[in-house]
Amino acid sequence: MGAEIKIVPDAAALNRVAAAEFKSAADSAIADHGRFRVALSGGNTPRNVYALLAQEYKTSLDWDKIHIFFGDERHVPPDHPDSNYRMANEALLSKLPIPPGNIHRVRTELDAEAAARDYEAQLRAEFNVKNNDLPRFDLILLGLGDDGHTASLFPETAALKETTRLVVPNWVEKLQTFRITLTFPVLNHAAGDLFIVSGAGKAEIVKAVLTSSGSAKYPSQRVQPENGRLLWLLDREAARLLSTLPS
Ligand code: 6PG
Repeated sequence: MGAEIKIVPDAAALNRVAAAEFKSAADSAIADHGRFRVALSGGNTPRNVYALLAQEYKTSLDWDKIHIFFGDERHVPPDHPDSNYRMANEALLSKLPIPPGNIHRVRTELDAEAAARDYEAQLRAEFNVKNNDLPRFDLILLGLGDDGHTASLFPETAALKETTRLVVPNWVEKLQTFRITLTFPVLNHAAGDLFIVSGAGKAEIVKAVLTSSGSAKYPSQRVQPENGRLLWLLDREAARLLSTLPS
């Protein structure tokens, strides 16, 4: 199943369409198997999507059947300004009637290796997966970094080579820090991977990633769900160098 690319006029439209994609994925997952398991992305782009979900979907989504995970996390305390958990909590989670047990945070108070192992254990418990079985997220939200990274799968980092673990600590030399990230086996076992990309600043990397399909030069190009939907949601600014949509 090739990648779908949806280009919308601006950031406001991007937030609306992303929230609607979240809603429809949640409704069909809950109808099919009684719960929706989603991994949130970090960074800046999704913040307004989360705020819109809190504003407009507070009563129209079954939050007690929704389990929230994180695609990656910065190795900082949960109240740190760089924390993805903090961002999502402020924009979305703290505003919802969601049971605390449904929010699966990376315990960054542990050292990076222990936090990754703990998070893998949380995934295995929630998805009831053992040994080499993989958890199948209903939806994984993803962003795109200027260097083509996604989640915390950065170019030239060890996590790119991981084939069995579900979650790893990943040392990012250029940031001089650890990140904790889901691995490609998990991203590619999802029912849906949704990239949300906004702004002229991302136009170059969007063109590089989407017009040289088939290459795996950029980590984000390796997100190819085996049996799932891959959707790239772009605003016009981010898509402005895509003269022709790749086939
Ligand atoms: C993170 C993210 C990361 C992010 C990209 C894009 O923790 O930073 O998960 O993968 O999605 O870096 O970030 P922006 O949305 O801030 O451009």
